[in-house]
Amino acid sequence: MRTPFVAGNWKMNKTVEEARLLVFEMARELREIKGVEKVLCPPFTALLAVAALLEGTDIGLGAQNMHWEEKGAFTGETSPLMVAEFCRYVILGHSERRAYFGETDETVNKKVGATRTCGLIPILCVGETLAENEAGRTTEVVSRQVREGLKGLEAGFTSGIVIAYEPVWAIGTGRASSGENANAVVQDVIRKTLTEMYREEVSQAVRVLYGGSVTASDAAEFFSQPDIDGALVGGASLRVDEFVAITRATMK
Ligand code: PGA
Repeated sequence: MRTPFVAGNWKMNKTVEEARLLVFEMARELREIKGVEKVLCPPFTALLAVAALLEGTDIGLGAQNMHWEEKGAFTGETSPLMVAEFCRYVILGHSERRAYFGETDETVNKKVGATRTCGLIPILCVGETLAENEAGRTTEVVSRQVREGLKGLEAGFTSGIVIAYEPVWAIGTGRASSGENANAVVQDVIRKTLTEMYREEVSQAVRVLYGGSVTASDAAEFFSQPDIDGALVGGASLRVDEFVAITRATMK
């Protein structure tokens, strides 16, 4: 049995004051929802303030990115150790980072590998672009991202990670995938690749989320799918009512 998992990716939104206000309201309601792993991923500048508000709750904290080196001359970057001071989770390889900040399968792989030594749980994002989807390349692209992202990493570690299937054409567009279509990719591509790389038990242990325009009204459609264990939520995670309703919907 995989525990359902819902994470809110705030992206580059919310000042510290705004973050405090949002978490203050959200945490009150999220605490009531049991049996789900709940994670908030605010921007770096708000991590400290949000960590203080979440202390003593069962709501986890995540970062949206990190560097793979422990320390050094990398202006503007944040190391795994620094992230681990506040967070239990880190989103890695988000399509916006791949598209706008030059992240490649290779750098994503280094980052995922770097979580091993500091106890962070990576949320590895994979997903095809619209052009790749229309060219019928979804399987090739998504399986490559899983394979390359996890290259060299051992089964025991991989069993505990989280993967988010986020078709790029569905992110922030209001055009979510259908539950059935997303489940097919998770089952036939992501879990199949994990089975080929490791073994069936590993593939069945990894939590796989869907992401891309998830809202309170379509969340249940995704969570009712057998291979989808939760959601990585962008826009809707900035609204208390929406994010709480999405989290409730995991209780299928
Ligand atoms: P969205 O973003 O829910 O706003 O589409 C999802 C994500 O980028 O993780």
